Amino acid sequence: MILVTGGAGFIGANFVLDWLAATNEPVVNVDKLTYAGNLENLASLQGDTRHVFVQADIGDSTVLSALLQQHQPRAVLNFAAESHVDRSIHGPEDFIQTNVVGTFRLLEAVRAYWSGLPADAKLAFRFLHVSTDEVYGTLGATDPAFTESHNYEPNSPYSASKAASDHLVRAWHHTYGLPVLTTNCSNNYGPLHFPEKLIPLMIVNALAGKPLPIYGDGQQIRDWLYVRDHCSAIRRVLEAGRLGDTYNVGGWNEQANIDIVKTVCALLDELRPRDDGRSYAEQIRFVQDRPGHDRRYAIDARKLERELGWKPAETFETGIRKTVQWYLDHPEWVAHVQSGSYRDWVHQQYSAQEPA
Ligand code: NAD
Ligand code: DAU
Repeated sequence: MILVTGGAGFIGANFVLDWLAATNEPVVNVDKLTYAGNLENLASLQGDTRHVFVQADIGDSTVLSALLQQHQPRAVLNFAAESHVDRSIHGPEDFIQTNVVGTFRLLEAVRAYWSGLPADAKLAFRFLHVSTDEVYGTLGATDPAFTESHNYEPNSPYSASKAASDHLVRAWHHTYGLPVLTTNCSNNYGPLHFPEKLIPLMIVNALAGKPLPIYGDGQQIRDWLYVRDHCSAIRRVLEAGRLGDTYNVGGWNEQANIDIVKTVCALLDELRPRDDGRSYAEQIRFVQDRPGHDRRYAIDARKLERELGWKPAETFETGIRKTVQWYLDHPEWVAHVQSGSYRDWVHQQYSAQEPA
């Protein structure tokens, strides 16, 4: 089996769902269930014995060590993180605790477990760390896209904490021989995305008749990848990645924020027109910029294609349409997230199993 951390969040949940749709190999899913963790994301796995959920912090060495011994995974995939740049600006502490200290503790628990494995299992074991393109900093308008050898130049507390975690993972390979792999991916979008991030926030605000806040001039560029393509890239790197290497993952889809928001508005105009017949684009408002806002990210994903044969399956046109449609089809998920009642899910789901 494999052990996944952060599997109740946006990318982790998509990964677990895709994994169990593609294989019968069980998943132990360790998630602290912060505000970003939502077990409703995994509701379709209820009763599926291939999915074992454990609420725990990656910084809890005792629990992690016990889980590793109990389940004997052949791989650990680390999705768990504080992930929102704006939150990192308002309160960096949690980012240091989870992304830096938590990754360190996880690495140490995994190293102890891996060291004690029999030779064959030790050889086959993998630790895959899921990271971000934000560690590379920002690009000028005409700079080439980030390659794996680009300098680390993180600019936000979030990206600095992720950069630190990447360095720890690298060092655990070089110093202790831990068989690690790291992926650095661009902006994901798709189902189950928490509506604090640009695309889902725009969809839910538009439908609620609220303003669509664009930071600064809206000309910041991100390189968008459909989440299930990110998941397939991770599976491929896990399967065939070269030990100690890093792999950039991206969708070759650079777009300015304002254009993304206009596309979302146009799709909503088509799929769920406003009652007054006007465009959702009329709800766009330019607001104060994010401090230290990175201007442009762009991923050069040629290494992953050349060495491991991975390419995204989805274009932005197909992916964004599916995404908007998913939010339209899941008003309950949105309502539970907005009301906060998704956080009661653990209790609702598992109270029946508590001892009488
Ligand atoms: P998310 O915020 O949606 O989910 C994070 C999950 O981690 C949540 O379920 C949360 O409960 C859990 N978690 C947080 N702290 C934890 C802790 N201390 N112990 C255990 N679980 C904890 O994030 P996401 O967007 O799904 O991102 C997943 C990973 O992918 C992160 O490492 C992020 O840096 C990376 N990443 C994200 C993107 C993106 O566009 N969202 C792009 C590239 C890389
Ligand atoms: O590049 C990968 C990263 O992408 C991941 O590592 C992060 O975990 C993920 O959150 C994401 O970071 P961003 O800061 O790029 O994503 P966000 O959705 O917060 O913002 C996307 C862009 O949209 C960014 O330029 C800021 C802008 N924005 C965002 C929000 C929430 C707005 O203009 N208005 C908004 O309300």
